[in-house]
Amino acid sequence: MVILGIETSCDETAAAVVQDGSRVLSNMVYSQIAHHRPYGGVVPGIASRSHVEVLPRILEDAIKKSGVDWDQLDAVAVTRGPGLASSLLVGLAAAKALAYRLGKPMIGVNHLQAHLHSVFLGDDAPSPEEMLPAIALLVSGGHSCLVRVESQGSFQLLGQTLDDAAGEALDKGASLMDLGYPGGPVIEKTAQGGNATFVDFPRGLKTRGKQGDGPDRSLCFSFSGLKTSLRYFLENNPDALEGDGVRDVAASYQEAVVDSLVSKLELALANADVQNFLCVGGVARNTLLRDRLAALAEKCGKKLWLAAPDYCTDNAAMVAAFACHCAPDETVDWQGMDVEPNLSVEST
Ligand code: KG4
Ligand code: ZN
Repeated sequence: MVILGIETSCDETAAAVVQDGSRVLSNMVYSQIAHHRPYGGVVPGIASRSHVEVLPRILEDAIKKSGVDWDQLDAVAVTRGPGLASSLLVGLAAAKALAYRLGKPMIGVNHLQAHLHSVFLGDDAPSPEEMLPAIALLVSGGHSCLVRVESQGSFQLLGQTLDDAAGEALDKGASLMDLGYPGGPVIEKTAQGGNATFVDFPRGLKTRGKQGDGPDRSLCFSFSGLKTSLRYFLENNPDALEGDGVRDVAASYQEAVVDSLVSKLELALANADVQNFLCVGGVARNTLLRDRLAALAEKCGKKLWLAAPDYCTDNAAMVAAFACHCAPDETVDWQGMDVEPNLSVEST
């Protein structure tokens, strides 16, 4: 089965062609970072206009590079949520038009489930049978959550951020330190060789126990206190970023984010009867996080699976690959499908 995937949920315009659920024939990504950089974050109006402008060329490139003709496609898959409504609409409209014209089905995909599927992409990737059930840490610019992936298509939310996502915390931290955008890569670069114990930034939500019907707070994240703590630190120490100081502050901030993520994951693993865990999403590109996860795997004797760096940040290969496992459902009214900006990780 050959599927064309389309991804426009946030600030990447992406199209990819994937064969039989794991062979990536093409993977085109246009990053809008340069358009949003002057504003220090994603501007929804700019994002959707840029998707409208760029998507046709990206689609042509993805088909051309794949070596497959339009009429050889078996289905068109597209992210339908969660994400920015006006950006999701661009991808959904394009996918519907293409599927209609080709006389093939369209498959709406949950962006978070596609991220969770990204570990199965690439030459050395495991098969789902090898890896599931597993506990997954999904960390991106818009989401941070712990998910139990029981089998393909079966997801249980264990914990999530109560405020900022991990990537958002890095983006906001970088902005406070005037390092640029996006914050994750720039903080990682600035922190190289820095002293990670220079500032003892707080780790959010150390408390245990459930509150109401929501997930167990001991498995939830909170990064808003960390960001505020950085702001106060910089106000009280106006020279802190001078010279090598910026390395130390960036390293301490990165340490606090990574430490919070890894300690909650460790707790989730201690309570779960699984032998595997995985990490996906844009923040999973971070080297410190990848190293700490490898150390955790050694400590708890479980197997770690990481998405390949190119498949961590938003891409359409993960959308097309995941769609292959959903298989086109004849009963789904895809022509009437709408975007779902707040879709949860558990929903199809
Ligand atoms: O998955 P993604 O491309 O988009 C969303 O679905 O949100 O993730 C983007 C996020 C941004 O917040 C960015 O700062 C972060 O991933 N990121 C990183 C790194 N590369 C990207 N964070 C830490 N270290 C990195 N190397
Ligand atoms: Zn994403």
